[in-house]
Amino acid sequence: MAASHDAKPRFDATQKVFRLDAGKVTYAMGVNADGMLQNIYWGARLEDADPLVALPAPERSSFDPKGALSLQEYAGWGGSLTATPALKLRFDDGNRDLVLRYDSYRIDGGDLAILLRDAQAGVKVTLHYSADASTGIVGRSAHIENGSGQPITIDSAAAATWSLPPANDYSLRYLTGTWAGEWHLQTRPVAPGATVLESRRGSTGDENNPWFAIGRGSDWNEDHGDVWFGALAWSGSWQLRVDEDILGQVRVTGGFNPFDFGYRLKPGESLDTPVFYAGYTGDGVGEASRLMHRFERTRVLPEGPTPKIRPVLYNSWEATEFKVDEVGQERLAVKAAALGVERFVVDDGWFGARDSDHAGLGDWVVNRRKFPNGLKPLIDRVHGLGMSFGLWVEPEMVNPDSDLYRAHPDWVLNFTGRDRSLGRNQMVLNLAREDVKAHVFEVLDRLLAENDIQFLKWDYNRNWSEPGWPQMAPDEQQKVYVAYTRNLYDILRRLREKHPGVEIESCSGGGARVDLGIMALTDEVWPSDNTDPSDRLSIQDGFSYAYAPATMMAWVTGSPNWVNGRSSSLDFRFLSSMQGGLGIGANLLEWTASDEEAARRYIAEYKTIRATVQQGELYRLLSPQGRAPWSATESVSADRAQAVLFAFQRQGEEARAFPTLRLRGLDPKARYRMRFIHGKAAPGTPDTASGAYWMQRGIDIAIKGDLQAAGVVFDRVR
Ligand code: GLA
Repeated sequence: MAASHDAKPRFDATQKVFRLDAGKVTYAMGVNADGMLQNIYWGARLEDADPLVALPAPERSSFDPKGALSLQEYAGWGGSLTATPALKLRFDDGNRDLVLRYDSYRIDGGDLAILLRDAQAGVKVTLHYSADASTGIVGRSAHIENGSGQPITIDSAAAATWSLPPANDYSLRYLTGTWAGEWHLQTRPVAPGATVLESRRGSTGDENNPWFAIGRGSDWNEDHGDVWFGALAWSGSWQLRVDEDILGQVRVTGGFNPFDFGYRLKPGESLDTPVFYAGYTGDGVGEASRLMHRFERTRVLPEGPTPKIRPVLYNSWEATEFKVDEVGQERLAVKAAALGVERFVVDDGWFGARDSDHAGLGDWVVNRRKFPNGLKPLIDRVHGLGMSFGLWVEPEMVNPDSDLYRAHPDWVLNFTGRDRSLGRNQMVLNLAREDVKAHVFEVLDRLLAENDIQFLKWDYNRNWSEPGWPQMAPDEQQKVYVAYTRNLYDILRRLREKHPGVEIESCSGGGARVDLGIMALTDEVWPSDNTDPSDRLSIQDGFSYAYAPATMMAWVTGSPNWVNGRSSSLDFRFLSSMQGGLGIGANLLEWTASDEEAARRYIAEYKTIRATVQQGELYRLLSPQGRAPWSATESVSADRAQAVLFAFQRQGEEARAFPTLRLRGLDPKARYRMRFIHGKAAPGTPDTASGAYWMQRGIDIAIKGDLQAAGVVFDRVR
């Protein structure tokens, strides 16, 4: 990340206080009289001259001795610490005591590096801090070095501990989910004790997502209140722990999941943690999301600060499943192009002996029965139709029924002599092995070199099981938790470097691998296999708390929907999908002429608003969470020249009208003309009015009935 976008850290040598002042945020820490690096302040921006000092740790009782509960930035487990440590380790000689004290610092551009050490034990930890000048989001990570004369084993290593000001009225929002039901927003009070969010699955997972938001007071909401929020940039097993101690001090500690962790470091070796990003706003959780979105667009996504617009894509999966072939795909491509689709993606089934999910994974050679002349004729045809070409891959997996597994049964995660559990009839290749990593890179590199491909949908369809690495000594095997994910990142990085025109989507049976780590190496993500447009309202809403609409793909598929059997109109499906990167996943051969006509119109409309939807500021106006009857979102372009409003009624009740929607983020003095993509306004609604009018009076939409939707565009009048 370019240092010029980071605020310059400052150090006050007399008070021994470090300050990061960025955006509307100040983050301060200091070295106290005991040499501990302690959090002093994290919140709204302070004046430069404001006094900030680190206080010595008090002794409360014999059960809470000095330092046991102090707000350390990165505590080692040792001495009398009783709070959750950021780092816990074991020396081969039996010592497990680690007391980290401040040593020195270095400021290099926007990077603040603070060295903590346990001089006697010979362990050095360098904490890295940077603060994004625009959003005030702080990134933290740790570099842990074994400077002792003996091997150590790290039992747990966090990227950071974030400390909040002591209070007894915090509540936590977080995201939970499952396959076809990702991104449920949860809220619970933060109370004495701990809440643990985690994945033990080897990858990010969808049970919890590594994001949190903690608000203060009883009435924090979209628009109001203090909110601290953050996300961990890691796609392997992870943990975020929210602890409230007996003093009401709240800490969020996150990094590698300590469960089954054990990372050996020989003398001189080191371990880098992932980066944990976190921010603060005084303007509610809506603003917290907008800050995250802006940070992701400008600082995380590979094409930042202005990521490319998502093209309208077609994907074959729901139409043809494994029955892909040259003739059938070409037919779909012709139909898709005629609708205005810009990218055609062939999903699963094009390779090896892949006629179902029982065989073929691992054999990334074109199936000549389905594509007798290879992929070239189809790719040429797709290009000839004016679309880019994309292909589905699942490079980290292998079916036992594959040439790859028959040749290399030792390449999968396994414990010697133990059963190898299957998930979707497949196993996980051990990417931590250098030979496996080299193979996966080479296969994909060749695929991209030999075929004129612009896009990969990179899938990952199961959890780890039996995560052994028998080729390594027993005490080195647990390195798999780190090495696998780092090697995955390395493959993605090198593929992008070598094939700069290729875009990549992160998919994991839906949204089970979405995090800031994978986002730095991919262009878009697949939030869920659930494409029902009503379920999607909640899924997309939950997603938007943490992640930018710029990355969120949403397809219009067939009705009734395959997941839940619900029927919905094409209008409802289009409007729901237009809230993200629009795709079509329906069987176009089944569409009538009037379906095609409607689709052409929606796609053309979408192209006029997608920059606003994907890269504008998102306001969640009505929440669909908890199966609520309504949902509404508004996106406003950065220059406030356009706003796009989507409104949905899942279920009509009594004679009740749809709530008045008051817009946000417009220029109050400018005039905006509104235009419906679909639906209509209540009688008497003006076509043109000031930003102030639309934001204060708002707009009433005439919606009646079940599964009804409206889309409205507001364009500033010159
Ligand atoms: C996963 C993906 C789907 C599709 C199938 C193909 O379930 O999430 O979109 O690609 O795999 O097997």
